[in-house]
Amino acid sequence: MNLIVAVDNNWAVGYNGGLLTYLPGDLPYFKEKTMDKIIVMGRKTLESLPNGKPLKGRKNIILTRDKDFVCENAVICYSKDEVLEYIKQFNTEDVFIIGGSEIYNLFMNECNKAYITKIYEILKADKFINNMDKLNNWEITWKSDMQEHQGINYQWTLYENKCI
Ligand SMILES: NC(=O)c1ccc[n+]([C@@H]2O[C@H](COP(=O)([O-])OP(=O)(O)OC[C@H]3O[C@@H](n4cnc5c(N)ncnc54)[C@H](OP(=O)(O)O)[C@@H]3O)[C@@H](O)[C@H]2O)c1
Repeated sequence: MNLIVAVDNNWAVGYNGGLLTYLPGDLPYFKEKTMDKIIVMGRKTLESLPNGKPLKGRKNIILTRDKDFVCENAVICYSKDEVLEYIKQFNTEDVFIIGGSEIYNLFMNECNKAYITKIYEILKADKFINNMDKLNNWEITWKSDMQEHQGINYQWTLYENKCI
């Protein structure tokens, strides 16, 4: 299973229900990685998407504890175990955890690869994930060239879980 996320220097992922910043180059990267795949997200991340709708061209799995929650074109799961049971029918390489902070932290140990966009800034934030540089099981196995957008430097990296 994979995780894909953009973080700042403090491993922040969000502010006020939205992303930390707008990096146009990161969107095609996210799309390329997740297109035709299975994506898992929390109910709050779904609400942050354009029109609050599932992403096209992907099988969307939404986590909520609200049994009355309805969403067209998505599979709803009410617990981590239910997600893990549901995705057994797929190749785990095709499953991507796409946020937000609660869901990243919930599934981090289940993932063997993490596609981390590192934003080399400290941005205004209220949602964070565990600092993977401080977790012994993760190692960086790939880094892209440095990217830049309006003075913000960022880089795509791949972390691999040595314990899976
Ligand atoms: N930087 C990035 O790459 C990136 C990517 C995605 C999102 N984000 C950001 O992350 C923020 C949202 O993250 P968040 O942590 O607030 O919310 P979230 O993880 O998207 O969703 C949290 C919700 O998921 C449900 N949930 C959580 N654990 C559950 C469990 N064990 N069983 C069943 N349902 C469970 C609950 O929904 P109910 O309340 O409905 O029960 C909970 O309120 C936003 O700012 C967003 O922009 C950043």
